Amino acid sequence: MLRLLLPFIVATFALSACTKKNTNEIMIGQYGSMTGAEATFGQATDEGIRLATDEVNAAGGIKGKKIKLVTMDDQGKAEDAASVVTRLIEQEKVLAILGEVASSRSLAAAPIAQNKKIPMISPSSTNPKVTEVGDFIFRTCFIDPFQGTVMAKFAFENLKLKKIAVLRDVKSDYSVGLADFFIQKFKELGGEIVGDASYQSGDVDFKAQLTNLKGSNPEGLFIPGYYTEVGLIARQARELGLKAKLMGGDGWDSPKLSEIGGKDVDGSVFSNHYSNETKDPVAVEFINKFKAKYNKLPDGLSAAGYDAAKVLYKAMAATSDLTAQAIRDQIAKITDHAGVTGRITINEKRNATKSAVVVEVQGASNKFVTTISP
Ligand code: PHE
Repeated sequence: MLRLLLPFIVATFALSACTKKNTNEIMIGQYGSMTGAEATFGQATDEGIRLATDEVNAAGGIKGKKIKLVTMDDQGKAEDAASVVTRLIEQEKVLAILGEVASSRSLAAAPIAQNKKIPMISPSSTNPKVTEVGDFIFRTCFIDPFQGTVMAKFAFENLKLKKIAVLRDVKSDYSVGLADFFIQKFKELGGEIVGDASYQSGDVDFKAQLTNLKGSNPEGLFIPGYYTEVGLIARQARELGLKAKLMGGDGWDSPKLSEIGGKDVDGSVFSNHYSNETKDPVAVEFINKFKAKYNKLPDGLSAAGYDAAKVLYKAMAATSDLTAQAIRDQIAKITDHAGVTGRITINEKRNATKSAVVVEVQGASNKFVTTISP
């Protein structure tokens, strides 16, 4: 009998040994575009989150336990975002989730976290709908009605532009929303929207839209998209002789923007969460630590990832029993956290009210222009 059963006993034992979680570790999940057209978003965010995690672990972890971060790649696809978040919760048994950057992917995964009652914090998704999914979904950044206002005011008041055209990505919730918020504010200020054209993420030829827009003689072209398409749009716009000032939002933040757009993106402006020219002591300390670990300067995504992770770990430390529900309740109470991207207070809509910066593209680096407060 024993001889018959032994293989089963051994197999069951081996299986439970490898699926069993180390109880001295706290499993935390992160999902993002580690590959694909927005790979720098996922990679830079991951670098920021890892820096924060290593710091907390080096200081003894949380309640005597080390944090184990599991990063999953969604390849920049909404369907994959939903499936990796399911895996993080069901297989990795994570207690909380950090991600995503892109609003469309946060929107695809948030309902899963909400249903399973696992808290999720997006470091940088700015579309308002993301945190409306439910009470387990948070963000540590500002939202697009504010970001749209920032760029509309900057265009109208600082750049003195009166006629602007918009070119939006209709496949991106972020892009569609930010275009609308920008247009609303720019008109309110007395500006005129002379064109409103669209493309889809993944497109490489924008000449038809740009030719059309050129006909309406815009002084500025607002492109609330992500860096890969924006770089190509800048090149093709200049090739066609479109001289409008190019403007955008946080989705431009990538070292790849100037690689793709070359000289054609220089002098363009965009709003962002952070500038590494900041003199804020919290940020300066972060920049130094980041440089020591990765041998390069952080971009806004690394800063936002670091802040989201620090907020999560602070909330976890404040719980008495480290359950998902208790962590959720503590995230909701975060007040005046001194973040790299600014002071973070989670408001009743689970968003953070923060200022934005406007930067100008100058080759591989972005030059700080101004800070705009809510
Ligand atoms: N805010 C963008 C979105 O919601 C994502 C993003 C944030 C991209 C910061 C770059 C930098 O989709």
